[in-house]
This record gives sequence, structure tokens and C-alpha cells, in this order.
Amino acid sequence: MFSIKNLAILLAIFNVTHSLTLDQTNGCDSTTCILPDCLCMNTTPPMGLNLEEIPQMVFMTFDDAVSNWMYPTYEKIFGNRTNPNGCDISMTFFVTHLGTNYQLVNEFFNRGHEIASHSVSHKDDYPYWMNNSIAFWEREAGRQREIITTYSNIPMDQIQGFRTPYLQTGGDATFTALQNLGINFDSSLSTKNFMDPPIWPFTMDYGVTHECMVPPCSVETHPGLWDIPVINFQSGENGTVCNTPDFLCFPSYANLTASEVFDFFIFNYERYNKTRAPFNIYQHIYWLANSQEVLQGFLQFIDFLLSLDHVYFVPVSKGIEWIRNPLTLAQMTNNDVFGCDPSSNNREPVPCPEPQVCYYPESVPGGEQNMGSCVPCPSEYPWLDV
Ligand SMILES: *[C@@H]1O[C@H](CO)[C@@H](O)[C@H](O)[C@H]1NC(C)=O
Ligand SMILES: *[C@@H]1O[C@H](CO)[C@@H](O)[C@H](O)[C@H]1NC(C)=O
Ligand SMILES: *[C@@H]1O[C@H](CO)[C@@H](O)[C@H](O)[C@H]1NC(C)=O
Ligand SMILES: *[C@@H]1O[C@H](CO)[C@@H](O)[C@H](O)[C@H]1NC(C)=O
Ligand SMILES: *[C@@H]1O[C@H](CO)[C@@H](O)[C@H](O)[C@H]1NC(C)=O
Repeated sequence: MFSIKNLAILLAIFNVTHSLTLDQTNGCDSTTCILPDCLCMNTTPPMGLNLEEIPQMVFMTFDDAVSNWMYPTYEKIFGNRTNPNGCDISMTFFVTHLGTNYQLVNEFFNRGHEIASHSVSHKDDYPYWMNNSIAFWEREAGRQREIITTYSNIPMDQIQGFRTPYLQTGGDATFTALQNLGINFDSSLSTKNFMDPPIWPFTMDYGVTHECMVPPCSVETHPGLWDIPVINFQSGENGTVCNTPDFLCFPSYANLTASEVFDFFIFNYERYNKTRAPFNIYQHIYWLANSQEVLQGFLQFIDFLLSLDHVYFVPVSKGIEWIRNPLTLAQMTNNDVFGCDPSSNNREPVPCPEPQVCYYPESVPGGEQNMGSCVPCPSEYPWLDV
């Protein structure tokens, strides 16, 4: 029989173990937060897998408009590169409206890339994005998803992610809005405290458990919403720490050489060796399109990664799929979550039934606009309320 004393000891032991679990995961209880729907922030791979037996995922993402002038540069990046399984490398585009050609968005989607929302207006005004109204965020994030769906013909349920302009959130309102919209990941929150060793993505069931670098800060929990952190880069030992490995990391007057760019990426990549967390390369195409040296160094780095047989460039949502149900590289030879057969991806090509370029002499955001569309042109240039 149990005596009260034994019970007390048992409880004490339980409490100790319990609080250790909590401490290790910054407040998240990993005994109740379990995959596939909940994951605590961590520096070890999910399900206790060993580093050596899992793929190194690379989340390459591009923000802002998808426009014709960018096409040749994108083509140089992913036009002719494959993952170790022979499928084309693929990435996530956080698309904003002004200047976007939705025919191109349709094409990128059909080539295996992921399309996500990056707001309609991308207004150049930080305080505007600090708005803590849920309706504000539903409108910016949700209306852009609607616009993408309408004019590039991509099913709405395939648009699963969001990133805020300037990585400026409105705190909890942003994440509550995303949950209301049924969007399942956010990639707006940066961390430098957890860049070495880099953390894995996690769900916000216990809130945002890394530091808040940009107030207003989230203090509530957002069960099931994935935080794909913007893990910072550093320009060499003791160098500048920055959010994204592009012009934000280097002064515009720095005339970088290809080998400096290559070394910069290798330097940052080496940290990911320690945890095999997805390596985030969150880019703006301008940086690559503006300098042949930069582009060349970047492509050399991609080719270096692809020469390693365990590195996969995948869209964020495919990475989440892997995290929810992690497989070893050996298991992936039979059940390839990163495969390119559309039927295995639960994803059929979507037509662009009536491709056309819409022209508007006037628009709500101002001035004349062109918009490539897969469907007949709306009477007005689409915007937040149009
Ligand atoms: C694509 O890559 C293959 C193999 O590296 C090469 O043989 C081929 O010429 C490339 N094609 C283009 C269009 O760059
Ligand atoms: C926040 O957004 C709402 C809805 O767009 C707007 O009515 C309100 O004025 C905004 N608040 C601030 C402080 O900008
Ligand atoms: C970085 O800083 C540390 C400590 O100040 C110093 O020992 C090291 O030499 C520095 N490294 C470089 C490359 O400057
Ligand atoms: C970069 O190149 C420009 C033009 O060649 C030159 O004027 C400038 O001084 C260079 N900047 C640096 C930091 O070397
Ligand atoms: C990975 O880690 C190993 C051991 O820490 C190191 O030797 C290697 O240079 C690192 N980088 C790469 C790109 O493999």
C-alpha cells in the first residue's frame, strides 16, 4: 500500500522531472506537447532522431512581388538544380501584391514552389504594421491570399504561410488572425539568442519561447501555429548580426566578391551542422539580381550544398510535413516526402485558363498598374477593399 509519505516523495520526484522538462524547453511541456500537432522549441531533431540519419533541409524563401524582370535571375537559381532525389529544388515565395504577375505565380506553383502571403499593401510604414487589431491582420494577410487564389488560380488551402512586411508584427493580433484564417505557419519572428546552435521550428502552443526582438511582443499561446523563426546570420566571426543574408547584412557600398559571399554562407551554414535545424536562407531577389559577383557566390554555395547527399531545398510547408512525421534518410528512400510526383504530393498542376495582362490607368494605391492574371481582368486594380 502507498503511504502518504511515499506519495509525497513520488510527487516530489515527479515535480523535479517535470520542471526539468519545462526548463529545457523554455516553458513548453514536452510530455504533453507532442507531434504531429505540437512541438516544443528545441535544438535537437524531432522524435529523438540522430543528426546523421536525417536530411538537412534548406528553407530558401523570397519576399515581395513576383515580377517579370526577376525571371532570369530566378531561372539561374532554380531552373536547373535538383535535390539528391532528382526532383527540382523548390522554395517558398512570400508574395505581396503591387507589381506581381499572377501568371508567374501560377507557373512557380506548378514547378513545385510554395506560394505564401506577404500582405497586400506592404506599406512602407513601420508603425502601420504595429497595429494590434485582429481585423487589420486578417485583411492584409487574408485578402492577399484571396488575390493570389483568384488571379493565379492556386487553391486557397495550398496557401499556408505568412510573413509580415519588415518582420514587424502586431503581436498576438497577427497570430490570432492567422489562426482565424486557417494559415498554419508564420515566418516573421527573428532570433539571435538561438542562432548558435540554431533552433528547430516549433508550434506556439506555449507561446513564442524565444526572445522577442521586435515589439509589440506576443504573450499569448497560439496552439498549432508553427513559428518558422528567422534565425539570424552573422557576417563572419564577431561580424554584424542581421535578419536576412542580403543587403540587410552588408552595406550597399560593399563591393562583395563571389568568394566573400560564398564564405559568408559557409560560415553561417556550419552552425546548422550542430542541430540540422532547417537552414533558413531568407532573401530578397534584388541583392542577387544587382550583382553578378553576389549571384555567382550564392550559386556556388547552393551547388556546394547540393553536392552533399543529405541536403534538400524544400518549401517551408513540406518541411513542416517532414517535422510532423519525421523520417530518416533511409526511410525516405521508400516514402519520399520530398518527392516530385504531383500525385504523391496531394497536389495537381493548376491551369492558367485565360492568361492576360490587365492594365489600369488608375489604382487605389496610386498611378497606373499592370497585372498578369490567369483569369479575365477585374474592372479595378485589386487592393485591400477592391
Ligand atoms: C543543366 O545542368 C546539366 C547538368 O549539370 C547540364 O548538362 C545542362 O547543360 C544544364 N542545362 C542548362 C540549360 O543550363
Ligand atoms: C488598425 O487597423 C484598423 C483596421 O484597418 C484601423 O481602423 C485602425 O485605425 C488601425 N490602428 C492604428 C493604431 O493604426
Ligand atoms: C572575435 O572576438 C574574440 C573575442 O574578443 C577574439 O578573441 C577573436 O580574435 C575575434 N575574431 C576575429 C576574427 O576578429
Ligand atoms: C566599390 O566600387 C566603387 C566603384 O568601383 C568604388 O567607388 C567604391 O569605393 C568601392 N567601395 C569599396 C568599399 O571598396
Ligand atoms: C560541419 O561540422 C564538422 C564537424 O564539426 C566540420 O568539420 C565541418 O567543417 C562542418 N561544416 C560542413 C560544411 O560540413
